[in-house]
This record gives sequence, structure tokens and C-alpha cells, in this order.
Amino acid sequence: MTIAVIGSNMVDLITYTNSLPKAGETLEAPDFAIGCGGKGANQAVAAAKMGGNVMMVSKVGDDLFAPNTVANLQQQGVDTRFVTTAPGTSSGVAPIFVDDQSQNRILIIKGANQQLKPADIDDAAEALKACQLIILQLEIPLETVYYAIDFARQHQITVILNPAPAVATLDIDYACKCDFFMPNETELEILTGLPVSSDEEVILAGQSLLKRGLKNLIITLGSRGSVWMSGDEIHRVAATPVQAVDTSGAGDAFIGCFAYLLVETGDVAAAMTQASAYAACSVTGRGTQRAYPDAESFQRFLNRN
Ligand code: RIB
Ligand code: NA
Repeated sequence: MTIAVIGSNMVDLITYTNSLPKAGETLEAPDFAIGCGGKGANQAVAAAKMGGNVMMVSKVGDDLFAPNTVANLQQQGVDTRFVTTAPGTSSGVAPIFVDDQSQNRILIIKGANQQLKPADIDDAAEALKACQLIILQLEIPLETVYYAIDFARQHQITVILNPAPAVATLDIDYACKCDFFMPNETELEILTGLPVSSDEEVILAGQSLLKRGLKNLIITLGSRGSVWMSGDEIHRVAATPVQAVDTSGAGDAFIGCFAYLLVETGDVAAAMTQASAYAACSVTGRGTQRAYPDAESFQRFLNRN
């Protein structure tokens, strides 16, 4: 294995609607879809679909969703030896609401993901030591994230930390031990307490984090592209213009594709450009993982027109 995702899996319950009910109200929504999601699993699947050799360390619940989650990961080529059941828990689920502006609102119930513990990293230690890159998010306990960062440091494994969903109490000293810290603009705002509504504000907020000792900060900005900040260097990548249908999971598509290319080429700027196009391609389809192209369909997307 070359890439390990130590993180979450969720079942996405996606309602397509423009209006949400008030207390006591029943509303009908036009459409619904169920799919495999979770930021960890999404990133693992994106990297695997691009051709990466990917394993996951993750927890599923003790319920009817679990076998489907594991089967889906396997189908996408992700090694599930370390995806284990947390007895007596429900799987993580994510009710998602997508409006006709293609904006998403996501609620997460972490369920079994809360049971992913440092001991699970110890159980997978031999396989993890053989990896070149570990990807982390914040849908599992923080103590497990910190343990994984120390584990990676100890074994000279590159670490990407995607601080999603944002936790204001995240220990920035741990973020500084990571090679890449990759928030979106909302997460950057929560972590810094600074406004992020213009590009200038994003850069200022980013600089406030860099001052605390971050090595590489990559901020994803949706349709405004992405920016890589390191020391005094600022590198901007424009978004690939597309007709968006459903933006849920686009950030995960970016990170999974970026991770795969980083391992393959080591070229950060080029990996960002490709990852940005990969994420754009993902928003042209409904759902999260199900909208991620494999390497071949991604190539067709790049060659369109
Ligand atoms: O980032 C998108 C993901 O967030 C969804 O798949 C949902 O499961 C939540 O984890
Ligand atoms: Na999508």
C-alpha cells in the first residue's frame, strides 16, 4: 500500500430540496438518493479511482449499512483489512440537503467513527509503516488524529490533515507536525476566527496560521479555486468552470486526487491543478463518491470540447 486513510465512513442520505421544514411542519421533497460517503472514505475512494494503492483504517457500525460500506470500498479497490466493526454502534450517517443552486448542507452523526481509537492504529501499524502517505480528517476522535500524526512522524510518513469538519479547539501544534494542512474557507474561518469573504481575507487568515508554524497550507475555495501557501510563497490555482449539479464531497475529491498525484510525482502545484479539475468533474454528478470519475473518465473530462 502507498496511501492510508485513517478516518471516517458514512452513509450519505441525500435529499434534493429548496425548502426545509419548520418545527411541526411536514414538507415533501422532490428527490432523494443514498450513497457511500464520509470524508475519510471519500478521499480513499478518490485516490483509489485515480489508480492509487489505498488502504483504510476505519470503523463501521453493527448494522445493516456496514456490509454495504465495506463491499463498496472493496469494489473501489480500497484495502479494507483494517475496517472493523464497533459492536453495538450504528454506522456513521450524513443527512445531506442539496438545493437547486447545487449548494449542500450536511449534518453528520458519527456513530461507529467515534470508536476509532489509537489501538486501531497499533493494530494496523505494520501495514501503515509501509505507506508513503497518511490522510486524516476530523470525523474521528481527536486523540486518534493526534496519535496518527505522531505515528507518521515517527516513521517518516508524509501526512495530510484535512481539518474537516472544523473543530475550533484543534491543537495547531499538531497541525504544524503535518506536511500539508488542507482546510476549506469555512474551516479556515472557524480555526482562525478571521473573515474569509475575499481572496485578500483568505490570504490574511492563512498567514495567521502559517505564522504559528504550518509547513504547507492548501485552502480549497470551491468555485474560487484553491491556494497553496508556504513561507512567503503564494500559489493560486483557478477552479475549472463547470455546470455544478451537486457539490457535496467535492473537497474530498480534491484531496484524494491531490494525495494520489503527490505520491506519484511530488509536484504540489501540478497536483493541485489536476485535483481542481477532478473536483470540478465530481460536481457535475449527483452524490459524493458515486460522482468521482475513474482515471479513464477523468481523462475524457479533461479532453472534452
Ligand atoms: O465531505 C462530504 C462528506 O461529509 C459526505 O460524504 C458526508 O458523509 C460527510 O462526511
Ligand atoms: Na457531486
